[in-house]
Amino acid sequence: MKYEVFATYDQMCRRAANLISAQIILKEDAVVGLATGSTPLGIYNTLADWYAKSDLDFSRVRTVNLDEYCGLPFEDPQSYHYFMQTNLFSKINIKPSNTHLPNGLAPDIREECKRYDALINSLGGIDIQLLGIGHNGHIGFNEPSDTFSKDTTHIRLTEDTIRANSRFFKSPSDVPRSALTMGMRSIMCSRKIILVANGKEKEEIIHQAMEGPITPRLPASILQLHPDTTVLFTIE
Ligand code: GLP
Repeated sequence: MKYEVFATYDQMCRRAANLISAQIILKEDAVVGLATGSTPLGIYNTLADWYAKSDLDFSRVRTVNLDEYCGLPFEDPQSYHYFMQTNLFSKINIKPSNTHLPNGLAPDIREECKRYDALINSLGGIDIQLLGIGHNGHIGFNEPSDTFSKDTTHIRLTEDTIRANSRFFKSPSDVPRSALTMGMRSIMCSRKIILVANGKEKEEIIHQAMEGPITPRLPASILQLHPDTTVLFTIE
């Protein structure tokens, strides 16, 4: 794993946006794996700025998101569909039909998980995957567990995650209790991975993930086995 530390959040976001745009320039129809949470916001703003300056073209880019809550309508401001629409897709020239997220409202959740894995395969896998990290070491919504889940899965969120993500909701009881998340196979088969994290409270978990034992109790630790992962961190 490569590790790069930045003095400011802006510098970290610029570096991540650079890595993503390099991939898009290299391959116009790149499959870009996207993440939600507060950390990637500056990256999406930077990419949107570069698009506005005509430095980037998303017309052939395909995207797959890591995860989505179960039970939230797409138009709910807390859904990841809404997040991606508001913070990135509406600001660039990406074709809506080229953007993909798991559907947390699907009537048959098992079928939806299968559909999502088949979709990622049909796109030829992920060229570059952006990841954040949860306070408990989750990536996507792959929560600490006894085993790594290979496929897209319906996951029960841990109390830690519900508490951490409740800052976006009116109250903790409004946070959905489950979500769909891309599994470790699609993440680990991504040809390149960038993990971004900022703030003192993420520093220890990042070090454990990079240097501690590889264990499903700290899902991000699996990235030690990936041949091309870059961790970008800033204390800011
Ligand atoms: C959510 C997302 C994760 C993200 C995490 C961290 O739980 N499912 O993909 O990495 O939040 O979010 P933040 O960047 O806000 O700390």
